[in-house]
Amino acid sequence: EWKRSFRRRLLAWYAKHARDLPWRRSRDPYRVWVSEVMLQQTQVETVRPYFERFMAAFPNVAALAEADEQAVLRLWEGLGYYRRARSLHAAAKQVVADHAGQIPGDVATLLTLAGVGRYTAGAIVSIAYDRPAPILEANTIRLLTRLIAYNGEPTSTAGQKRLWAVAEELLPAKGCSTFNQALMELGALVCTPAAPRCETCPAETLCRARAEGTVERLAPTTKK
Ligand code: ADE
Repeated sequence: EWKRSFRRRLLAWYAKHARDLPWRRSRDPYRVWVSEVMLQQTQVETVRPYFERFMAAFPNVAALAEADEQAVLRLWEGLGYYRRARSLHAAAKQVVADHAGQIPGDVATLLTLAGVGRYTAGAIVSIAYDRPAPILEANTIRLLTRLIAYNGEPTSTAGQKRLWAVAEELLPAKGCSTFNQALMELGALVCTPAAPRCETCPAETLCRARAEGTVERLAPTTKK
């Protein structure tokens, strides 16, 4: 079955090519959360130093909850989309007040936190808790659109429904943390918007857009 094959090839590729990124050194849900919020509208290399400074200043959710909002915003200066920082701060207070300082490990509860949407919730559940939860963001929208040669508009309601379903069907029974990170990494490093590196892609022979010659045309532009 092609999905099993895809998983196996993707994981083998990731084992060789994963970047060493500061938020990959532990599965602490707080670190995963902060990194994913920063990465939502900002490139990896820009985020790196901001993430390190943020963690040094606010090493855990309790420290962030107690912080002064101006101090939080100062550390965000230059990253843009400051509403992300305000929401993150508010959500940290919610976690302390309503969840005994423990970041929830299920999508439904995470969605009740300020600024946490389906993507961030799925990222925390899968990457930090290693439980099955699909993710869909710029890199994986593009990758999955090409993999299934989705010819509709990926950001439409129908497109999102289809792609979330694919992201869910592809999840392995175990090892969702590595799997979802590998999916994003392949999108970021190989299945790029322009000049994708198909000849080095572990999924080349499984990719329907590659077979149909539509890889370059299927390059949805999303925020980021
Ligand atoms: N983009 C969004 N989340 C990411 C992650 N965890 N690693 C690399 N790029 C990302």
